Amino acid sequence: TSGGGAGGGMSRIVVVSNRVPVPQGNAGQAGGLAVALLGLMQRRGGLWFGWSGAVAEAASPPNLVQRSGVGYATIDLTEAEHRGYYTGYSNGVLWPMLHGLPHLMSFRRPDLDTYRRVNRRFADALVPMLRQDDRIWVHDYHLLSLPAALRQRGVLGPTGFYLHVPFPAADAAAVAPGIRGLVQDVLACDLLGFQTASDRENFAATAIGFAGAVRTGDEMLELGGRPVRLGVFPAEIAAPEFAATAAAQMQAEPARLLARSLREQALLLGVDRLDPTKGIPERLEAFRRVAARRPPRSLAMLQIAAPSREDVAAYKRLRQEIDTAAGAINSELGEPDWLPLRLLARPQARDTVAGFMRLARVGVVTPLRDGMNLVAKEYVAAQDPADPGVLVLSRFAGAAAQLTSALLVNPHDAEGMAEAICAALDMPLAERRARWQDAWAAIAETSPERWGEEFLRALSPEALDRLPVAGT
Ligand code: ADP
Ligand code: G6P
Repeated sequence: TSGGGAGGGMSRIVVVSNRVPVPQGNAGQAGGLAVALLGLMQRRGGLWFGWSGAVAEAASPPNLVQRSGVGYATIDLTEAEHRGYYTGYSNGVLWPMLHGLPHLMSFRRPDLDTYRRVNRRFADALVPMLRQDDRIWVHDYHLLSLPAALRQRGVLGPTGFYLHVPFPAADAAAVAPGIRGLVQDVLACDLLGFQTASDRENFAATAIGFAGAVRTGDEMLELGGRPVRLGVFPAEIAAPEFAATAAAQMQAEPARLLARSLREQALLLGVDRLDPTKGIPERLEAFRRVAARRPPRSLAMLQIAAPSREDVAAYKRLRQEIDTAAGAINSELGEPDWLPLRLLARPQARDTVAGFMRLARVGVVTPLRDGMNLVAKEYVAAQDPADPGVLVLSRFAGAAAQLTSALLVNPHDAEGMAEAICAALDMPLAERRARWQDAWAAIAETSPERWGEEFLRALSPEALDRLPVAGT
Protein backbone atom coordinates (compact mmCIF):
# COMPACT_ATOMS: atom_id res chain seq x y z
CA THR A 1 0.00 0.00 0.00
CA SER A 2 1.21 3.53 -0.69
CA GLY A 3 0.60 6.70 1.32
CA GLY A 4 -1.74 6.23 4.26
CA GLY A 5 -0.26 6.65 7.74
CA ALA A 6 -1.84 5.20 10.86
CA GLY A 7 -5.57 5.36 10.41
CA GLY A 8 -4.95 5.60 6.68
CA GLY A 9 -5.60 9.33 6.57
CA MET A 10 -3.97 9.90 3.18
CA SER A 11 -5.75 7.70 0.67
CA ARG A 12 -8.65 9.21 -1.25
CA ILE A 13 -12.19 8.46 -0.13
CA VAL A 14 -14.65 7.42 -2.81
CA VAL A 15 -18.26 7.43 -1.67
CA VAL A 16 -20.86 5.66 -3.78
CA SER A 17 -24.56 6.12 -3.10
CA ASN A 18 -27.70 6.14 -5.18
CA ARG A 19 -28.64 9.64 -3.98
CA VAL A 20 -25.88 12.23 -4.45
CA PRO A 21 -26.62 15.62 -2.86
CA VAL A 22 -24.64 17.83 -5.26
CA PRO A 23 -24.71 21.19 -3.43
CA GLN A 24 -26.79 23.72 -5.36
CA GLY A 25 -28.03 26.86 -3.65
CA ASN A 26 -29.45 26.10 -0.19
CA ALA A 27 -32.15 23.61 -1.13
CA GLY A 28 -32.89 21.28 1.78
CA GLN A 29 -32.04 17.58 1.44
CA ALA A 30 -34.65 15.36 3.07
CA GLY A 31 -32.96 12.05 3.84
CA GLY A 32 -30.65 10.77 6.52
CA LEU A 33 -27.95 9.46 4.20
CA ALA A 34 -27.28 12.79 2.53
CA VAL A 35 -27.36 14.67 5.81
CA ALA A 36 -24.93 12.27 7.46
CA LEU A 37 -22.32 12.25 4.68
CA LEU A 38 -22.26 15.79 3.37
CA GLY A 39 -20.23 17.35 6.20
CA LEU A 40 -17.68 14.56 6.18
CA MET A 41 -17.07 14.79 2.46
CA GLN A 42 -16.87 18.58 2.48
CA ARG A 43 -14.15 18.42 5.13
CA ARG A 44 -12.21 15.46 3.69
CA GLY A 45 -12.53 15.98 -0.02
CA GLY A 46 -12.72 13.01 -2.35
CA LEU A 47 -15.02 11.62 -4.99
CA TRP A 48 -18.77 11.03 -4.63
CA PHE A 49 -20.37 8.89 -7.29
CA GLY A 50 -24.00 7.97 -7.92
CA TRP A 51 -27.27 8.80 -9.62
CA SER A 52 -27.84 12.38 -10.79
CA GLY A 53 -31.51 12.27 -9.79
CA ALA A 54 -32.42 12.74 -13.46
CA VAL A 55 -34.04 10.38 -15.93
CA ALA A 56 -32.66 10.56 -19.47
CA GLU A 57 -33.46 9.02 -22.86
CA ALA A 58 -30.21 7.10 -23.09
CA ALA A 59 -27.23 6.18 -20.92
CA SER A 60 -24.31 8.62 -21.08
CA PRO A 61 -20.91 8.89 -19.33
CA PRO A 62 -20.63 10.43 -15.84
CA ASN A 63 -20.97 14.16 -15.42
CA LEU A 64 -18.28 15.54 -13.08
CA VAL A 65 -18.52 18.77 -11.07
CA GLN A 66 -16.16 20.07 -8.38
CA ARG A 67 -17.60 21.79 -5.31
CA SER A 68 -15.38 22.81 -2.37
CA GLY A 69 -12.89 19.99 -2.73
CA VAL A 70 -15.37 17.24 -3.55
CA GLY A 71 -15.77 15.79 -7.03
CA TYR A 72 -19.36 14.79 -7.69
CA ALA A 73 -19.65 12.30 -10.55
CA THR A 74 -23.18 11.36 -11.50
CA ILE A 75 -24.97 9.36 -14.15
CA ASP A 76 -28.57 9.63 -15.31
CA LEU A 77 -30.85 6.61 -15.27
CA THR A 78 -32.98 5.64 -18.22
CA GLU A 79 -36.73 5.49 -17.70
CA ALA A 80 -36.60 1.67 -17.60
CA GLU A 81 -33.68 1.66 -15.14
CA HIS A 82 -35.44 4.11 -12.86
CA ARG A 83 -38.62 2.05 -12.91
CA GLY A 84 -36.96 -1.33 -12.35
CA TYR A 85 -34.00 -0.48 -10.12
CA TYR A 86 -35.15 2.51 -8.05
CA THR A 87 -38.95 2.44 -7.94
CA GLY A 88 -39.34 -1.30 -8.45
CA TYR A 89 -36.78 -3.42 -6.65
CA SER A 90 -35.02 -0.92 -4.32
CA ASN A 91 -38.11 0.83 -3.01
CA GLY A 92 -40.86 -1.63 -3.89
CA VAL A 93 -39.14 -4.75 -2.50
CA LEU A 94 -35.96 -4.11 -0.49
CA TRP A 95 -37.12 -1.05 1.45
CA PRO A 96 -40.33 -2.68 2.78
CA MET A 97 -38.61 -6.02 3.43
CA LEU A 98 -35.73 -4.38 5.33
CA HIS A 99 -38.25 -2.49 7.47
CA GLY A 100 -40.25 -5.62 8.19
CA LEU A 101 -43.30 -4.55 6.14
CA PRO A 102 -43.59 -7.39 3.60
CA HIS A 103 -47.25 -6.64 2.81
CA LEU A 104 -46.02 -3.47 1.09
CA MET A 105 -43.72 -5.42 -1.23
CA SER A 106 -44.53 -5.54 -4.90
CA PHE A 107 -42.13 -7.84 -6.77
CA ARG A 108 -41.70 -8.18 -10.51
CA ARG A 109 -38.94 -10.47 -11.72
CA PRO A 110 -37.60 -8.07 -14.38
CA ASP A 111 -37.04 -5.43 -11.69
CA LEU A 112 -34.52 -7.67 -9.94
CA ASP A 113 -32.65 -8.13 -13.22
CA THR A 114 -32.66 -4.37 -13.76
CA TYR A 115 -31.42 -3.80 -10.20
CA ARG A 116 -28.45 -6.08 -10.83
CA ARG A 117 -27.81 -4.51 -14.23
CA VAL A 118 -27.79 -0.97 -12.82
CA ASN A 119 -25.37 -2.07 -10.08
CA ARG A 120 -23.07 -3.37 -12.84
CA ARG A 121 -23.49 -0.13 -14.75
CA PHE A 122 -22.45 1.82 -11.64
CA ALA A 123 -19.31 -0.36 -11.47
CA ASP A 124 -18.54 0.12 -15.16
CA ALA A 125 -18.80 3.89 -14.83
CA LEU A 126 -16.87 4.09 -11.57
CA VAL A 127 -13.89 1.81 -12.22
CA PRO A 128 -12.14 4.08 -14.78
CA MET A 129 -12.22 6.93 -12.22
CA LEU A 130 -10.58 4.91 -9.46
CA ARG A 131 -6.99 5.13 -8.22
CA GLN A 132 -5.17 2.18 -6.79
CA ASP A 133 -5.08 3.29 -3.14
CA ASP A 134 -8.65 4.67 -2.96
CA ARG A 135 -10.82 3.61 -0.07
CA ILE A 136 -14.27 2.89 -1.47
CA TRP A 137 -17.34 3.35 0.71
CA VAL A 138 -20.63 2.10 -0.75
CA HIS A 139 -23.93 3.17 0.83
CA ASP A 140 -27.30 1.60 1.31
CA TYR A 141 -29.72 -0.96 -0.04
CA HIS A 142 -29.74 0.29 -3.64
CA LEU A 143 -26.20 -0.97 -4.17
CA LEU A 144 -25.98 -4.40 -2.52
CA SER A 145 -24.50 -5.92 -5.68
CA LEU A 146 -21.87 -3.26 -6.20
CA PRO A 147 -19.07 -4.75 -4.04
CA ALA A 148 -19.14 -7.98 -6.09
CA ALA A 149 -19.34 -6.02 -9.36
CA LEU A 150 -16.26 -4.00 -8.36
CA ARG A 151 -14.28 -7.12 -7.42
CA GLN A 152 -15.23 -8.73 -10.74
CA ARG A 153 -13.70 -5.70 -12.45
CA GLY A 154 -10.40 -6.11 -10.61
CA VAL A 155 -10.86 -3.63 -7.77
CA LEU A 156 -8.77 -5.02 -4.90
CA GLY A 157 -8.53 -2.07 -2.52
CA PRO A 158 -10.37 -1.52 0.77
CA THR A 159 -14.10 -1.54 0.09
CA GLY A 160 -16.70 -0.88 2.75
CA PHE A 161 -20.48 -0.96 2.75
CA TYR A 162 -22.81 0.82 5.15
CA LEU A 163 -26.49 -0.04 5.53
CA HIS A 164 -28.43 3.05 6.68
CA VAL A 165 -31.65 1.09 7.16
CA PRO A 166 -32.48 -1.82 9.48
CA PHE A 167 -31.93 -5.48 8.70
CA PRO A 168 -34.73 -7.86 9.78
CA ALA A 169 -34.64 -11.40 11.16
CA ALA A 170 -33.49 -14.04 8.67
CA ASP A 171 -36.97 -15.37 7.87
CA ALA A 172 -38.24 -11.86 7.26
CA ALA A 173 -35.28 -11.11 4.96
CA ALA A 174 -35.92 -14.28 2.99
CA VAL A 175 -39.28 -12.96 1.71
CA ALA A 176 -37.49 -10.70 -0.80
CA PRO A 177 -36.86 -12.73 -3.96
CA GLY A 178 -33.20 -12.47 -4.89
CA ILE A 179 -31.93 -11.57 -1.43
CA ARG A 180 -29.65 -14.62 -1.20
CA GLY A 181 -27.55 -13.54 -4.17
CA LEU A 182 -27.48 -9.93 -3.02
CA VAL A 183 -26.21 -10.90 0.42
CA GLN A 184 -23.45 -12.90 -1.28
CA ASP A 185 -22.63 -9.90 -3.47
CA VAL A 186 -22.36 -7.46 -0.59
CA LEU A 187 -20.10 -9.90 1.28
CA ALA A 188 -17.47 -9.20 -1.40
CA CYS A 189 -16.45 -6.11 0.57
CA ASP A 190 -14.04 -5.92 3.52
CA LEU A 191 -16.19 -4.11 6.08
CA LEU A 192 -19.96 -4.02 6.54
CA GLY A 193 -21.42 -1.33 8.82
CA PHE A 194 -24.81 -1.29 10.54
CA GLN A 195 -26.78 1.18 12.67
CA THR A 196 -27.36 -1.17 15.63
CA ALA A 197 -26.08 -4.44 17.06
CA SER A 198 -29.39 -6.13 16.30
CA ASP A 199 -29.16 -5.19 12.60
CA ARG A 200 -25.70 -6.72 12.52
CA GLU A 201 -26.83 -9.94 14.21
CA ASN A 202 -29.84 -10.24 11.91
CA PHE A 203 -27.63 -9.78 8.86
CA ALA A 204 -25.14 -12.36 10.11
CA ALA A 205 -27.93 -14.87 10.69
CA THR A 206 -29.16 -14.34 7.11
CA ALA A 207 -25.66 -14.58 5.65
CA ILE A 208 -25.04 -17.84 7.52
CA GLY A 209 -28.52 -19.35 7.12
CA PHE A 210 -29.19 -18.46 3.50
CA ALA A 211 -25.99 -17.34 1.80
CA GLY A 212 -23.43 -19.93 2.89
CA ALA A 213 -21.27 -17.65 5.05
CA VAL A 214 -19.52 -18.98 8.14
CA ARG A 215 -18.82 -17.13 11.36
CA THR A 216 -15.11 -16.94 12.16
CA GLY A 217 -15.26 -14.49 15.06
CA ASP A 218 -17.48 -12.13 17.02
CA GLU A 219 -17.35 -9.54 14.27
CA MET A 220 -16.15 -11.78 11.44
CA LEU A 221 -17.81 -13.71 8.66
CA GLU A 222 -16.20 -15.55 5.82
CA LEU A 223 -17.62 -16.41 2.42
CA GLY A 224 -15.62 -18.52 -0.02
CA GLY A 225 -12.45 -17.98 2.04
CA ARG A 226 -12.78 -14.16 2.04
CA PRO A 227 -13.06 -12.51 5.49
CA VAL A 228 -15.58 -9.72 6.07
CA ARG A 229 -15.78 -7.65 9.22
CA LEU A 230 -19.22 -6.61 10.55
CA GLY A 231 -19.25 -3.40 12.60
CA VAL A 232 -21.81 -1.20 14.34
CA PHE A 233 -21.62 2.53 13.62
CA PRO A 234 -24.76 4.42 14.72
CA ALA A 235 -25.33 7.49 12.51
CA GLU A 236 -24.90 10.82 14.27
CA ILE A 237 -25.81 14.46 13.81
CA ALA A 238 -23.84 17.67 14.40
CA ALA A 239 -25.69 18.36 17.64
CA PRO A 240 -24.03 21.63 18.80
CA GLU A 241 -24.37 23.18 15.33
CA PHE A 242 -28.00 22.10 15.08
CA ALA A 243 -28.65 23.55 18.56
CA ALA A 244 -27.12 26.89 17.52
CA THR A 245 -29.19 26.95 14.33
CA ALA A 246 -32.38 26.23 16.25
CA ALA A 247 -31.68 29.03 18.74
CA ALA A 248 -30.82 31.52 15.99
CA GLN A 249 -33.97 30.60 14.07
CA MET A 250 -36.14 31.97 16.91
CA GLN A 251 -35.54 35.41 15.36
CA ALA A 252 -36.28 34.27 11.82
CA GLU A 253 -39.60 34.82 10.11
CA PRO A 254 -40.89 31.22 9.79
CA ALA A 255 -40.48 30.50 13.52
CA ARG A 256 -41.87 33.91 14.50
CA LEU A 257 -44.94 33.46 12.34
CA LEU A 258 -45.51 29.97 13.69
CA ALA A 259 -45.06 31.12 17.31
CA ARG A 260 -47.46 34.03 16.78
CA SER A 261 -50.10 31.74 15.27
CA LEU A 262 -49.90 29.41 18.28
CA ARG A 263 -50.66 31.97 21.01
CA GLU A 264 -51.07 29.73 24.08
CA GLN A 265 -51.37 26.43 22.20
CA ALA A 266 -48.81 23.71 22.96
CA LEU A 267 -47.14 22.59 19.71
CA LEU A 268 -46.73 18.93 18.79
CA LEU A 269 -44.40 18.36 15.83
CA GLY A 270 -43.82 15.55 13.33
CA VAL A 271 -41.16 15.84 10.59
CA ASP A 272 -40.69 13.03 8.09
CA ARG A 273 -40.39 12.02 4.51
CA LEU A 274 -43.88 10.90 3.48
CA ASP A 275 -43.00 7.22 3.86
CA PRO A 276 -44.98 4.15 4.98
CA THR A 277 -42.27 3.26 7.52
CA LYS A 278 -42.73 6.52 9.40
CA GLY A 279 -46.04 5.56 11.05
CA ILE A 280 -47.78 8.81 10.10
CA PRO A 281 -51.40 7.48 10.00
CA GLU A 282 -50.90 5.76 13.36
CA ARG A 283 -49.47 9.01 14.76
CA LEU A 284 -52.41 11.04 13.46
CA GLU A 285 -54.79 8.59 15.14
CA ALA A 286 -52.91 9.06 18.43
CA PHE A 287 -53.13 12.81 18.00
CA ARG A 288 -56.87 12.60 17.27
CA ARG A 289 -57.36 10.88 20.62
CA VAL A 290 -55.29 13.50 22.43
CA ALA A 291 -57.06 16.40 20.76
CA ALA A 292 -60.47 14.89 21.58
CA ARG A 293 -59.56 14.83 25.29
CA ARG A 294 -58.08 18.28 25.61
CA PRO A 295 -59.84 21.65 25.48
CA PRO A 296 -60.07 23.20 22.01
CA ARG A 297 -57.33 25.81 21.38
CA SER A 298 -55.04 24.27 24.00
CA LEU A 299 -52.81 22.46 21.51
CA ALA A 300 -51.95 22.13 17.83
CA MET A 301 -50.05 19.57 15.84
CA LEU A 302 -47.81 20.43 12.88
CA GLN A 303 -46.97 17.46 10.67
CA ILE A 304 -44.43 18.17 7.94
CA ALA A 305 -44.35 15.30 5.44
CA ALA A 306 -42.02 15.76 2.47
CA PRO A 307 -43.26 13.80 -0.57
CA SER A 308 -40.87 11.00 -1.43
CA ARG A 309 -40.68 8.19 -4.06
CA GLU A 310 -43.98 9.29 -5.54
CA ASP A 311 -43.91 6.66 -8.29
CA VAL A 312 -44.14 3.83 -5.76
CA ALA A 313 -47.76 2.70 -5.32
CA ALA A 314 -47.59 2.37 -1.52
CA TYR A 315 -46.44 5.99 -1.26
CA LYS A 316 -49.31 7.23 -3.45
CA ARG A 317 -51.82 5.38 -1.29
CA LEU A 318 -50.22 6.78 1.84
CA ARG A 319 -50.55 10.34 0.60
CA GLN A 320 -54.29 9.82 0.09
CA GLU A 321 -54.66 8.16 3.46
CA ILE A 322 -52.90 10.96 5.32
CA ASP A 323 -54.83 13.69 3.52
CA THR A 324 -58.09 11.95 4.38
CA ALA A 325 -57.17 11.37 8.02
CA ALA A 326 -56.04 14.96 8.48
CA GLY A 327 -59.26 16.31 6.98
CA ALA A 328 -61.30 14.07 9.26
CA ILE A 329 -59.48 15.25 12.39
CA ASN A 330 -60.01 18.89 11.55
CA SER A 331 -63.64 18.48 10.52
CA GLU A 332 -64.43 16.45 13.64
CA LEU A 333 -62.57 18.47 16.26
CA GLY A 334 -61.98 21.90 14.74
CA GLU A 335 -63.69 25.14 15.72
CA PRO A 336 -64.50 28.15 13.53
CA ASP A 337 -61.40 29.89 14.88
CA TRP A 338 -59.11 26.85 15.45
CA LEU A 339 -57.94 23.73 13.61
CA PRO A 340 -56.03 21.14 15.64
CA LEU A 341 -53.90 19.74 12.80
CA ARG A 342 -51.65 21.52 10.31
CA LEU A 343 -50.42 19.16 7.62
CA LEU A 344 -47.79 20.27 5.10
CA ALA A 345 -46.96 17.83 2.31
CA ARG A 346 -43.75 19.58 1.27
CA PRO A 347 -40.19 19.78 2.57
CA GLN A 348 -39.09 22.76 4.62
CA ALA A 349 -35.58 24.20 4.76
CA ARG A 350 -33.45 22.40 7.35
CA ASP A 351 -32.82 25.58 9.34
CA THR A 352 -36.52 26.34 9.44
CA VAL A 353 -37.25 22.85 10.72
CA ALA A 354 -34.66 23.38 13.49
CA GLY A 355 -36.54 26.46 14.67
CA PHE A 356 -39.89 24.66 14.58
CA MET A 357 -38.40 21.86 16.65
CA ARG A 358 -37.34 24.33 19.33
CA LEU A 359 -40.88 25.74 19.47
CA ALA A 360 -42.44 22.30 19.86
CA ARG A 361 -43.46 21.17 23.35
CA VAL A 362 -43.55 17.56 22.09
CA GLY A 363 -41.53 15.94 19.29
CA VAL A 364 -43.56 13.01 17.98
CA VAL A 365 -41.18 10.56 16.25
CA THR A 366 -43.02 7.29 15.86
CA PRO A 367 -41.76 5.23 12.89
CA LEU A 368 -42.98 1.64 12.62
CA ARG A 369 -39.32 0.81 11.99
CA ASP A 370 -36.31 3.03 11.28
CA GLY A 371 -32.59 2.40 10.86
CA MET A 372 -31.69 5.34 13.10
CA ASN A 373 -34.04 8.32 12.64
CA LEU A 374 -32.01 11.50 12.69
CA VAL A 375 -35.12 13.61 13.32
CA ALA A 376 -35.24 12.25 16.89
CA LYS A 377 -31.66 13.41 17.52
CA GLU A 378 -32.30 16.76 15.85
CA TYR A 379 -35.34 17.35 18.07
CA VAL A 380 -33.24 16.79 21.19
CA ALA A 381 -30.48 19.07 19.90
CA ALA A 382 -32.94 21.85 19.07
CA GLN A 383 -34.36 22.23 22.59
CA ASP A 384 -33.83 25.15 24.96
CA PRO A 385 -31.95 23.52 27.89
CA ALA A 386 -33.75 25.78 30.35
CA ASP A 387 -37.21 24.79 29.12
CA PRO A 388 -36.93 21.70 26.91
CA GLY A 389 -39.72 19.86 25.14
CA VAL A 390 -40.31 16.12 25.39
CA LEU A 391 -39.44 13.48 22.81
CA VAL A 392 -42.02 10.74 22.21
CA LEU A 393 -40.05 8.08 20.34
CA SER A 394 -40.84 4.74 18.75
CA ARG A 395 -39.00 1.87 20.39
CA PHE A 396 -38.47 0.51 16.85
CA ALA A 397 -36.23 3.38 15.74
CA GLY A 398 -32.48 2.73 15.98
CA ALA A 399 -32.28 6.01 17.94
CA ALA A 400 -34.21 4.39 20.81
CA ALA A 401 -31.08 2.41 21.73
CA GLN A 402 -29.30 5.71 22.46
CA LEU A 403 -32.11 8.08 23.52
CA THR A 404 -33.33 5.95 26.40
CA SER A 405 -34.71 8.90 28.38
CA ALA A 406 -37.33 9.65 25.72
CA LEU A 407 -40.91 8.46 26.26
CA LEU A 408 -40.61 5.20 24.31
CA VAL A 409 -43.80 4.01 22.62
CA ASN A 410 -45.13 1.23 20.42
CA PRO A 411 -46.22 2.93 17.17
CA HIS A 412 -48.87 0.26 16.58
CA ASP A 413 -50.64 1.21 19.82
CA ALA A 414 -52.52 4.47 19.20
CA GLU A 415 -53.86 4.58 22.74
CA GLY A 416 -50.43 4.03 24.25
CA MET A 417 -49.02 6.82 22.08
CA ALA A 418 -51.91 9.13 23.08
CA GLU A 419 -51.14 8.48 26.74
CA ALA A 420 -47.45 9.21 26.20
CA ILE A 421 -48.26 12.46 24.38
CA CYS A 422 -50.53 13.52 27.25
CA ALA A 423 -47.80 12.65 29.77
CA ALA A 424 -45.38 14.75 27.72
CA LEU A 425 -47.79 17.70 27.66
CA ASP A 426 -48.26 17.51 31.44
CA MET A 427 -44.65 16.78 32.38
CA PRO A 428 -43.21 19.09 35.06
CA LEU A 429 -40.19 21.21 34.18
CA ALA A 430 -37.78 19.31 36.47
CA GLU A 431 -38.53 15.99 34.77
CA ARG A 432 -38.34 17.53 31.30
CA ARG A 433 -34.91 18.91 32.13
CA ALA A 434 -33.64 15.65 33.57
CA ARG A 435 -34.80 13.63 30.58
CA TRP A 436 -33.43 16.17 28.14
CA GLN A 437 -30.02 16.26 29.86
CA ASP A 438 -29.73 12.47 29.55
CA ALA A 439 -30.63 12.60 25.86
CA TRP A 440 -28.28 15.51 25.20
CA ALA A 441 -25.42 13.66 26.90
CA ALA A 442 -25.95 10.80 24.44
CA ILE A 443 -25.55 13.02 21.36
CA ALA A 444 -23.55 16.10 22.40
CA GLU A 445 -20.08 14.68 21.74
CA THR A 446 -20.91 12.94 18.50
CA SER A 447 -20.86 14.20 14.94
CA PRO A 448 -21.34 12.82 11.43
CA GLU A 449 -17.64 13.45 10.90
CA ARG A 450 -16.73 11.28 13.87
CA TRP A 451 -19.13 8.59 12.68
CA GLY A 452 -17.57 8.64 9.23
CA GLU A 453 -13.99 8.75 10.51
CA GLU A 454 -14.66 5.71 12.68
CA PHE A 455 -15.94 3.76 9.73
CA LEU A 456 -13.03 4.90 7.56
CA ARG A 457 -10.50 4.03 10.22
CA ALA A 458 -11.91 0.49 10.36
CA LEU A 459 -11.59 0.46 6.56
CA SER A 460 -7.95 1.57 6.50
CA PRO A 461 -5.41 -0.92 5.11
CA GLU A 462 -3.77 -1.04 8.56
CA ALA A 463 -7.00 -2.00 10.34
CA LEU A 464 -7.89 -4.53 7.65
CA ASP A 465 -4.42 -6.13 7.75
CA ARG A 466 -4.94 -6.89 11.41
CA LEU A 467 -7.97 -9.01 10.61
CA PRO A 468 -7.76 -12.68 11.44
CA VAL A 469 -6.78 -14.47 8.25
CA ALA A 470 -9.02 -17.20 6.89
CA GLY A 471 -8.42 -20.52 8.60
CA THR A 472 -6.63 -19.18 11.69
P1 ADP B 1 -34.83 9.14 6.49
O1 ADP B 1 -33.38 8.96 6.25
O2 ADP B 1 -35.61 7.86 6.42
O3 ADP B 1 -35.48 10.20 5.66
P2 ADP B 1 -34.01 10.41 9.02
O4 ADP B 1 -34.87 10.92 10.12
O5 ADP B 1 -32.89 9.55 9.46
O6 ADP B 1 -35.00 9.63 8.01
O7 ADP B 1 -33.37 11.60 8.22
C1 ADP B 1 -34.15 12.55 7.58
C2 ADP B 1 -33.38 13.86 7.41
O8 ADP B 1 -34.09 14.67 6.48
C3 ADP B 1 -33.31 14.67 8.70
O9 ADP B 1 -32.13 15.43 8.72
C4 ADP B 1 -34.53 15.57 8.62
O10 ADP B 1 -34.41 16.80 9.30
C5 ADP B 1 -34.69 15.78 7.13
N1 ADP B 1 -36.13 15.81 6.80
C6 ADP B 1 -37.01 14.80 6.87
N2 ADP B 1 -38.25 15.18 6.54
C7 ADP B 1 -38.15 16.49 6.25
C8 ADP B 1 -39.10 17.47 5.84
N3 ADP B 1 -40.39 17.16 5.70
N4 ADP B 1 -38.66 18.72 5.62
C9 ADP B 1 -37.35 19.02 5.81
N5 ADP B 1 -36.42 18.15 6.20
C10 ADP B 1 -36.81 16.90 6.42
C1 G6P C 1 -33.25 7.11 3.46
C2 G6P C 1 -32.36 6.10 2.75
C3 G6P C 1 -31.44 6.82 1.77
C4 G6P C 1 -32.25 7.71 0.84
C5 G6P C 1 -33.15 8.66 1.63
C6 G6P C 1 -34.05 9.51 0.75
O1 G6P C 1 -32.44 7.95 4.21
O2 G6P C 1 -31.61 5.37 3.71
O3 G6P C 1 -30.69 5.87 1.03
O4 G6P C 1 -31.40 8.45 0.00
O5 G6P C 1 -33.96 7.89 2.50
O6 G6P C 1 -34.77 8.71 -0.16
P1 G6P C 1 -34.59 8.85 -1.76
O7 G6P C 1 -35.33 7.68 -2.32
O8 G6P C 1 -35.21 10.17 -2.10
O9 G6P C 1 -33.14 8.85 -2.05
